[in-house]
Amino acid sequence: MPKVSLPQSLHPDLPLTALAPMQDVTNLWFMKVIAHYGSPDYFFTEYFRVNDTSRLNRDILAAITENDTGRPVFAQMIGESIPDLARTARELCRYNIAGVDLNMGCPAPRIYRKNVGGGLLREPEKVDQILAELRSTVNDRPLTVKMRVGFENTDNFYKILDIIARHNIDLLSLHGRTVKDMYHGEVKYDLIAEAVSRVDCPVLANGNINSAATAISVLTQTGAVGVMVGRWAIANPWIFKQIRQALRGEAITPVPLVEVRNYIDRLWQTPNSANIPVRSRVGYLKMFLNYIALLVDAEGQFLRLMRQTQTEVELLNLCDRVFLTDVTKTLALAPYSKG
Ligand SMILES: Cc1cc2nc3c(=O)[nH]c(=O)nc-3n(C[C@H](O)[C@H](O)[C@H](O)COP(=O)(O)O)c2cc1C
Repeated sequence: MPKVSLPQSLHPDLPLTALAPMQDVTNLWFMKVIAHYGSPDYFFTEYFRVNDTSRLNRDILAAITENDTGRPVFAQMIGESIPDLARTARELCRYNIAGVDLNMGCPAPRIYRKNVGGGLLREPEKVDQILAELRSTVNDRPLTVKMRVGFENTDNFYKILDIIARHNIDLLSLHGRTVKDMYHGEVKYDLIAEAVSRVDCPVLANGNINSAATAISVLTQTGAVGVMVGRWAIANPWIFKQIRQALRGEAITPVPLVEVRNYIDRLWQTPNSANIPVRSRVGYLKMFLNYIALLVDAEGQFLRLMRQTQTEVELLNLCDRVFLTDVTKTLALAPYSKG
């Protein structure tokens, strides 16, 4: 089967960048916010759940149909039923998607116990069957996989890489941790490097890329074609622009905290915020601030105070105090601590 090509990148002279899919985060609004500060080459949707009664989730679909960022969006699916995955892939292909992506990494126990997401890494034969069927269904645009290096250990890692190579997968996003590692512990960039040399498709390195400098070092260590950034794009939506500056050998522009206050305001003022109870909005903003805080001060003072706030007024006043008082302060270019 002839290879289909990946969508054109923003800067063909530079390695690729992608925003990692994140459930409850990477919706249409967040993609627009990221695009405002500097788009990555590719976006990925939150996962579409696939089972025998599933229908395409309208909110997730909006990230494709109403996307005006100018950057291609891959549609991610999570599931294990082969006919339903094929049906959903066909439905998704009716939309303007960059490709279909299969989730083989989600570490939530309620997910992997159903043998979907990261649970699939325990069953290479099943992965083989799924990718065979999806490849024959998705034959006019990219079919991509996002996965971890294993479930509990790396016993199936090479077997699954060979399956990926055999089915002509067009792009592999690899988080260098096992499912059981969840989001903790060292990222095994050496295993990402092994994947790069074992599969013949491009590989995006993923896991703890928390600064432009880390992106450069991971690209060097792994030989990956690009980087996929998740949580640290929440903390610092300028990160894709900064990665490009670093790749070009340019000085990285630090971001004044005053501008970060603006970013926080965008997160607060989502288009549907009028319909959301204030308590939920406060909780939602705090989820983002948990990441942003790691780039604000070395002592963790903002993080502590932010978590103590209870009302909208307390939270927004604290943000004003921390981000607007000293105009010379900037967001750190790398985290002070891992939180
Ligand atoms: C809140 C959250 C939601 C996530 N949702 C998804 C998802 O829907 N699909 C997926 O493949 N990975 C998901 N992930 C994993 C990320 O895409 C990424 O692989 C992981 O966070 C490691 O990258 P990072 O260190 O750059 O964040 C999620 C991660 C987080 C923190």
